[in-house]
Amino acid sequence: MLLLQALTVLLTVGTSAASALPGPLRLAATFSRISNELDHMSLGNCPVSKATIPLNDTSVYLPQPASNLTLKYIAIGRGTQNYTCASSSASAIPVQIGAAATLFDASCLASKSLNLLHEIPAVVGDAPIGSLAFLAELLSHSTNTTDLILGEHYFNAAGAPVIDFRVSGRRDWVVASKNASVDAPQTSSDADQNVPWLKLNRKSGCGIQEVYRVMTYQGSAPSTCAGLNKTLEVQYAAEYWFYG
Ligand SMILES: *[C@@H]1O[C@H](CO)[C@@H](O)[C@H](O)[C@H]1NC(C)=O
Ligand SMILES: *[C@@H]1O[C@H](CO)[C@@H](O)[C@H](O)[C@H]1NC(C)=O
Ligand SMILES: *[C@@H]1O[C@H](CO)[C@@H](O)[C@H](O)[C@H]1NC(C)=O
Ligand SMILES: *[C@@H]1O[C@H](CO)[C@@H](O)[C@H](O)[C@H]1NC(C)=O
Ligand SMILES: *[C@@H]1O[C@H](CO)[C@@H](O)[C@H](O)[C@H]1NC(C)=O
Ligand SMILES: *[C@@H]1O[C@H](CO)[C@@H](O)[C@H](O)[C@H]1NC(C)=O
Repeated sequence: MLLLQALTVLLTVGTSAASALPGPLRLAATFSRISNELDHMSLGNCPVSKATIPLNDTSVYLPQPASNLTLKYIAIGRGTQNYTCASSSASAIPVQIGAAATLFDASCLASKSLNLLHEIPAVVGDAPIGSLAFLAELLSHSTNTTDLILGEHYFNAAGAPVIDFRVSGRRDWVVASKNASVDAPQTSSDADQNVPWLKLNRKSGCGIQEVYRVMTYQGSAPSTCAGLNKTLEVQYAAEYWFYG
């Protein structure tokens, strides 16, 4: 009951107040505002096939999805991009070694308001992953949604990106390879910290043929390894769109 009271308090926090809050509370406030705007309707498992992916926001466009595919899921990914440094000198450059992220179901949000959806990566990117999972759990209950955690994203031992929805009882999974990469839109002075937008194609898997990473927020490594440890994790968030 304490949790429900806490959620009720959070629901009273308005948009303008939210922007002044520290990361985790801003996250809570924004999620609450969204759940409010959705009037406590379901937050997961909505049909998404009519949503339009924002591929025209970058200066160079990613290729469109293959015309015979259907948009199946939209997720918010929140996790880390991992890098390694050969030395801690300014002459070394961080090299990407992988990533790990939790994928939250954003299909209902996307079917209600793409503008709201596009706000989410920047908000959740600043919030600790643990608080997000906790909030997703709370929202699942308050919105009668079974599970807001759709799946996970990681790199396998061979260094290939994997998306796996089997953790949420679905059958879909994919081992992918990069098909195209474009710079994130230069919408702010720190936009170069946002990892590129990607199109991934399936190498093997079930149910998913193509994956897009768009609306990225942070995740890029510093430009040199000066003063850095051997391994480096950079927090990030993004929208992931899945076609199959
Ligand atoms: C995006 O660009 C494509 C190709 O140039 C065009 O066909 C499409 O209408 C554009 N979509 C939007 C939403 O502007
Ligand atoms: C879509 O078309 C490609 C060939 O262009 C084919 O390889 C693929 O199996 C088709 N996918 C589906 C889901 O029909
Ligand atoms: C990246 O960081 C995550 C989070 O700590 C970790 O679980 C994962 O093993 C790391 N992956 C690689 C490839 O280093
Ligand atoms: C919650 O969802 C279940 C399954 O979709 C449905 O049967 C039930 O009526 C819903 N309960 C409320 C209070 O909306
Ligand atoms: C990207 O995918 C398209 C369509 O599947 C294919 O024709 C093209 O060769 C791919 N490009 C790369 C670099 O993988
Ligand atoms: C390097 O690693 C140490 C030990 O894990 C940690 O205390 C320190 O903050 C790290 N330095 C940087 C720049 O991340």
